[in-house]
Amino acid sequence: MKRKSKISGSTIFILVLAIINILLIIGGISGISGMFWWLILTLPLLALGIYDVVQTRHAIVRNYPIVGHLRYLFESIRPEIRQYFFESDLDGKPFSRRQRSVVYQRAKNQKETVAFGMQADPNQPGYEWVAHSVYPVSLTEDDLRVNIGNKQCSQVYNASIINIGAMSYGALSKTAITALNEGAKIGKFAHNTGEGSISPYHLLGGDLIWQIGTGYFGCRDAEGNFDGEKFRKNALRPQVKMIELKLSQGAKPGHGGILPSTKNTPEIAAIRNVIAGTTVKSPAHHSAFNSPEGLLVFLKKLRELSDGKPVGFKICIGDKKEFTEILDAIETTGIIPDFIAIDGAEGGTGAAPLEFTDYLGMPLYDALAFVSAELESRELKEDIKLIAAGKIITGFDILKVIALGAAAVYSARGMMLSLGCIQALVCDSGKCPVGVATQNPKLYKALDPTDKKVRVANYHANTISATLEIMEACGMKNINDVSASKFFRKVNELETKSFEEIYFKNEKPVKVKPFQTNLN
Ligand SMILES: Cc1cc2nc3c(=O)[nH]c(=O)nc-3n(C[C@H](O)[C@H](O)[C@H](O)COP(=O)(O)O)c2cc1C
Repeated sequence: MKRKSKISGSTIFILVLAIINILLIIGGISGISGMFWWLILTLPLLALGIYDVVQTRHAIVRNYPIVGHLRYLFESIRPEIRQYFFESDLDGKPFSRRQRSVVYQRAKNQKETVAFGMQADPNQPGYEWVAHSVYPVSLTEDDLRVNIGNKQCSQVYNASIINIGAMSYGALSKTAITALNEGAKIGKFAHNTGEGSISPYHLLGGDLIWQIGTGYFGCRDAEGNFDGEKFRKNALRPQVKMIELKLSQGAKPGHGGILPSTKNTPEIAAIRNVIAGTTVKSPAHHSAFNSPEGLLVFLKKLRELSDGKPVGFKICIGDKKEFTEILDAIETTGIIPDFIAIDGAEGGTGAAPLEFTDYLGMPLYDALAFVSAELESRELKEDIKLIAAGKIITGFDILKVIALGAAAVYSARGMMLSLGCIQALVCDSGKCPVGVATQNPKLYKALDPTDKKVRVANYHANTISATLEIMEACGMKNINDVSASKFFRKVNELETKSFEEIYFKNEKPVKVKPFQTNLN
């Protein structure tokens, strides 16, 4: 019987390396020129090889010393290799190359067209389209603004239909927040602060939607509870146009916000009133209320403390019954929020547990259709405007959610892309290579707000134009004409259904009209 060798391949490899080093040393001592120089390379390799076989953490490098490290190297550059060399125009997650490119082009005011026709296969399930008209119309940008604020609010806000979605200073860098805020000022649209409070970089002239999460950053006492006086001080700032209470977020519904320790700088810690350098996890639930009625009473308090500014809440729908309970409470208390922001499960985040990102929460279209039909059936649609968020990038994306009942939209990652985000998917590491989602000065100083604010404004303006162009081609004279019956999706190889059939057929028997604008 053949006896198995007891010396492993890795040991032989180390021995060979050791012999090479010994031979080089002997050669060097014997005066052969250049021998010692080779040791600069071979000695560290020998040291690494010995370390690899001795360590017990990584089996792969223990079995394959030195070369085993290549696996980690290739793993670390896999996203870049895939994106640069293998990704097709319709590949790429969460945003395809085509989606990213359209944002880059619109942000840079570059070409507005694509060549040679459709890339998607229109016969595949999932393909979507909108019915155009033989009678196109002409519209202006003013047709795409909406008043938010019902009769219970005294400072109605005239909003653009596209606004910057919630992303805090902390998740994003100061240069990114500066560019977003200044971009919002140029384009006359609103900038949602995210739950990380109002920083100096939010106060550069852009309209603000101040978001308050469970951490009550910017309005918390020493114990982390809501502090009315601090709230009022910030809420009365002229830049703050609306107040948004965050109940949940699509990427991590039922989970509090997370600020990784690498991003928690002393400045950010001071703004949030937390300890610098620690990972800050906001609680999953609010301490200021614990029932639907409590939520509404709290919203009323926020409205009063802000001298009548529009108030609303952001939610990713989970249990439908819980949402209808809130609507029941609106009817019983008579307290009507001015808006509800609906975030789809497909929404983005700076940092979240994988299960929450991938499996919790209702996708945007289902959620929007459900909420919209509920509001309609309770005759609340005029008073409570819906703001939709979740992978809204193009004019077509905007019109689809308007058809499902939204009055306006948030774009968070679209705006990041307009700042130069390359979808490196490392927001949670603090190592964002383009300085958007990092607190590392070496990285964020490369992002020049003077240039990027213009890109943010361009992206907004060009997307508004694209939205108007579709409406014109479809003969939609105003936003009220954007109806679910005009949008279609291939649901299987043989059938195409309208959004009306897909999303409203099983809801209560009401005809869902889009919201009414302040115009007309
Ligand atoms: C980097 C980053 C930070 C975010 N921070 C917040 C936040 O503070 N509060 C919040 O409600 N949502 C937050 N979101 C979610 C977005 O506001 C938005 O709801 C979601 O990403 C869907 O929009 P999008 O598809 O246009 O990105 C964050 C998203 C990203 C990508």
